[in-house]
Amino acid sequence: MAEYAHHARYLELFLHGGFRMLSKVDSLRAADKGSLLGLGEEAAKLLATCTAETSLLSAIYWVLCSAALLGHTLSEDLLLQVVNFLERCRKGGAFAPHPLHEGDLLSTVSAIQIARLLKRPELLNVEETCSFVQSLQLPDGSFVQRVGATEGDARFTFAAICGLRLLGQHPRCQDEIAGWLVRCQNLDGGFGCRPKECESHAGHSFCCLAGLQLLSRLGDTSPRGRARLLRWLGSRQCEGGGMNGRPGKAGDSCYSWWTLAAAKLLDEGQEELGRMFDLPALEGFIESCMSSEGGVAPHPGDAPDPFHTFFGLAGLSLAQHAARGGASAKLQQMDPALVLPIGLP
Ligand code: FPP
Ligand code: ZN
Repeated sequence: MAEYAHHARYLELFLHGGFRMLSKVDSLRAADKGSLLGLGEEAAKLLATCTAETSLLSAIYWVLCSAALLGHTLSEDLLLQVVNFLERCRKGGAFAPHPLHEGDLLSTVSAIQIARLLKRPELLNVEETCSFVQSLQLPDGSFVQRVGATEGDARFTFAAICGLRLLGQHPRCQDEIAGWLVRCQNLDGGFGCRPKECESHAGHSFCCLAGLQLLSRLGDTSPRGRARLLRWLGSRQCEGGGMNGRPGKAGDSCYSWWTLAAAKLLDEGQEELGRMFDLPALEGFIESCMSSEGGVAPHPGDAPDPFHTFFGLAGLSLAQHAARGGASAKLQQMDPALVLPIGLP
């Protein structure tokens, strides 16, 4: 995949840079017996940068998925560092975004995805990890990000269903979850992050739809509601070809995924995407968000990051496969509900 080789280099540089920063923080902490007090401004800044990173483990999931989409194999050395890092993030059944943080749901689901991508199920204790995920469910069926939080959210509810499914489990109280997800739909057809109080958003629409699909409960939405959602998703494409997450916002590469994946989940015939969207214009927009050094940015000219690299490439993969079919697509195909490449190498 020579055309995309610079993206593979960007991913490797990101991992190398991240692991280098972690080991620098480790040695500074060891030198100061863990406190870092008295080590000066530079050390304090480094630690602050490192611990402020609330999605480091998820970033590794995005990097591994991006590499798989590109058909790129990461070096043994990097993969070993990924496994070591994952093990340091383990907190009982849960996983933290960083060894110095507490466990949370999104990091735990990222750990489950990473174990799947590496084909290393032994990296997880299925029983303990399922019981952590299940402990985050509220009586209304929704899920929260961390222990003690009280407000459910479509992102966490989808992530919990997806993580449990990858571990071969089903969540408890499926009627309550399905009812809660269905109630997130607004009159305009889009879904918000909670029932009745949140503006429609393409990311939350994806989460609600993918959650319902994994529960085999897409049929709990009404045919009229599904038609409205398709229309709302269809109006996400902006002038420049990109998708936005909400009306009035600029196109952003990651919404290529949230919007196309949601539309694909709704379209049982799998032919609708080419009719709903100008796919060549969308591909052009995603390519304009690519940095010449590799990586994908949210908007043309911005700095790339691993989140937009993964979701930009994942959206491009859906567009390529819908427009031209598998034979001439340059990227691996994505599973729209599990958010993983299909047919991992
Ligand atoms: C917008 O991001 C995207 C969303 C709001 C959806 C996020 C979904 C999850 C965290 C669940 C993912 C779970 C799995 C298993 C993949 P943005 O940062 O571009 O938002 P903005 O448009 O508000 O800046
Ligand atoms: Zn974005």
